[in-house]
Amino acid sequence: MTMVGVLEETGDGERRVALTPDGVQRLHRLGVEVTVQTGAGRRAWFGDEEYVAAGAATGSREQVYAASDVLVCLDPPADVGEARDGQVLVGLLSPLTDPGLAQRLAVAGVTSVSLDLLPRTLSRAQAMDALTSQANVAGYQAAIVAAEAYGGYFPMLMTAAGTTRPAQVVVLGAGVAGLQAIATARRLGALVTAYDVRDAARADIASTGATVLDLADTRQDRAAEDDGYARELAADEAEAQQRALTAAIPRFDVVITTAQVPGKPPPVLVPADALTAMRPGSVVVDLAAGPYGGNVAGSVPDRRTVTGEGVTVIGAGRLPSTMPQAASTAYARNLIALLAALMPQGAVTLDLGDEIQAAVVVTHGGKVVNPRVRELIDERKEIRS
Ligand code: NAI
Repeated sequence: MTMVGVLEETGDGERRVALTPDGVQRLHRLGVEVTVQTGAGRRAWFGDEEYVAAGAATGSREQVYAASDVLVCLDPPADVGEARDGQVLVGLLSPLTDPGLAQRLAVAGVTSVSLDLLPRTLSRAQAMDALTSQANVAGYQAAIVAAEAYGGYFPMLMTAAGTTRPAQVVVLGAGVAGLQAIATARRLGALVTAYDVRDAARADIASTGATVLDLADTRQDRAAEDDGYARELAADEAEAQQRALTAAIPRFDVVITTAQVPGKPPPVLVPADALTAMRPGSVVVDLAAGPYGGNVAGSVPDRRTVTGEGVTVIGAGRLPSTMPQAASTAYARNLIALLAALMPQGAVTLDLGDEIQAAVVVTHGGKVVNPRVRELIDERKEIRS
């Protein structure tokens, strides 16, 4: 029987786990056995005894590596070099930002499958969409973190001590995380405005009940690629956008930014001038903060700073990890949906003619088989030579 192994996450401060006890039971129904590294779910409040009660074995990390045909994770394990020839590794492996890992896995003969390459708009892929499930958690938490850091109420309150005005929140980037941040801030009672460079996002914003922020000089009609994602703006367009945002931002108490362009550094939407112009006590949460920059000038992942003008800037690093139970449960469901497609008879059977598998399988048979990742590796070789 195929053995699926669950590794404890190795990322700094990471609290999620790739498979939950409920997920073990679901995998059993696919005719698969599961072994879980001792303590792997501990930080998400899933104890070893729950995994055992669900029918999994538990063991040391070495035992999981040794016993498993398929290894599951969220981020690539720090000791990924332990994976061996013929083993299958499934996770969020970011091969478009770290193609070097794909090359190493190919050399080691590991078959790697990355959920972040999923063709998300295919309806059959929706249950597997881990980027969406994790972005939903991040968007929700962004609004909570902002409310916690803000010195006032989000809702309008009428009390004997007087009436409070509702907080004015603006959400920049209205994809999955942005829409969830809008909905959460509205549930807390804030007045929410939102902006996205894609024209199609306007209807999404309006459907949440938030106000659409109109920026003069930004050509939203040409800002989306055919696949529905935003494209990177040209330098003059980005400058016009920054100017317009700098003028618009100071009237808000809270700014939540979520803008990303696949495969590119995040665009700067809140430049230093905009921060300087904000009122003391304002809060800015940058969900895009990461190793390649962020949407807010000077934001650093997992760091909270207060500017000289009294504006709190929060570089939100691993927000899904701060809600590990919900994030792990959703991720496990995504993973199981993908494993069910990869293992129709209880064993991994690759079919690279299938649209989903062709997109998510990164390495197989000693080669990088994914065309997008291969192209990226070739481009980098050309730049070096
Ligand atoms: P993302 O994380 O790549 O980007 C977040 C948002 O930032 C996007 O809405 C993007 O338009 C916006 N953005 C990028 N550059 C910007 C700029 N310079 N200024 C302002 N905003 C900027 O995107 P996410 O949330 O992963 O998904 C985005 C698209 O994918 C949407 O069209 C969404 O509806 C679609 N999608 C469709 C799914 C489906 O059909 N099942 C599932 C998931 C996403």
